[in-house]
Amino acid sequence: MSVDRYAVFGHPIKHSKSPRIHSLFAEQAGQALSYSAIEVPAKHFQKVVTAFFANGGKGLNCTVPLKELAWAFADRLTERAKLSKAVNTLKLEADGSILGDNTDGCGLVTDLISNHDIVLSNSRVLILGAGGATRGIIAPLLEQGLQTLTIANRTVEKACGLAAEFQDIGAISAGSFADLQDQQFDLILNATSASLTGQLPPLPEDLLAANGVCYDLAYGNEPTPFVRWGLEQQAAKSLDGLGMLVEQAAEAFFIWRGVRPDTHPVINLLNSERSSKTS
Ligand code: ATR
Repeated sequence: MSVDRYAVFGHPIKHSKSPRIHSLFAEQAGQALSYSAIEVPAKHFQKVVTAFFANGGKGLNCTVPLKELAWAFADRLTERAKLSKAVNTLKLEADGSILGDNTDGCGLVTDLISNHDIVLSNSRVLILGAGGATRGIIAPLLEQGLQTLTIANRTVEKACGLAAEFQDIGAISAGSFADLQDQQFDLILNATSASLTGQLPPLPEDLLAANGVCYDLAYGNEPTPFVRWGLEQQAAKSLDGLGMLVEQAAEAFFIWRGVRPDTHPVINLLNSERSSKTS
């Protein structure tokens, strides 16, 4: 009998850690399944995703640049997927329809709270960037009862548009990087794609409050420029998004398989592998 098939689609996808993470989860749960990484350019998404499910695929993760296309493809969306207008998890339902969900925001919040003991309630949070990554995390963060959520972006109109869209959920404001002068935050999240090109948004001094935390949604074998900036600012913690990656995967695994994996051994293993690469 063949095993249930899962995959991650993206472009580029070669260096994805998702197949490794899901095979560790499957091993832990004692479940037999396959999970592969498949290179899918946006223009081929519709054709490839349709074929995947028609040929017995049970579930998919979709990453850059396919999350909006996956959102449009789903027959039904969870509330959090509706709000984020992006889908990272597709599931074949028993009736043959396709459910679209977004586990990114929940993965971030779980990593912050459960893995790093960061208190979100009543805290002042800043998100750098106003693209798809930001859209996916706004509602899950606001649900934690923040004092304020500020979005700063190079293109200020995009930040203002997002703030207007989510203003009914909580206290949210928007502006440019220059507008951040004389403000302080307990948690600063980097959701720009600047890290990918080794860049950093222009940030004023004293932006991070005493005992504040920095968190880059991106991750790498080396500390990202934003993680290094956080260390320079004497952050209590300056973290990258490896934990979020594992937590969003765990939530997807739960949606597909009904079993919630223990993420700690997987995060520890991936962390030890990258420190052995850099030492
Ligand atoms: P993603 O899905 O990863 O969020 P995106 O939707 O393309 O990708 O958004 C990228 C974000 O990174 C945007 O907020 C972008 O700013 P603009 O809206 O002004 O384009 C931001 N960004 C990318 N490179 C940047 C840089 N070098 N400095 C500051 N912001 C940058």
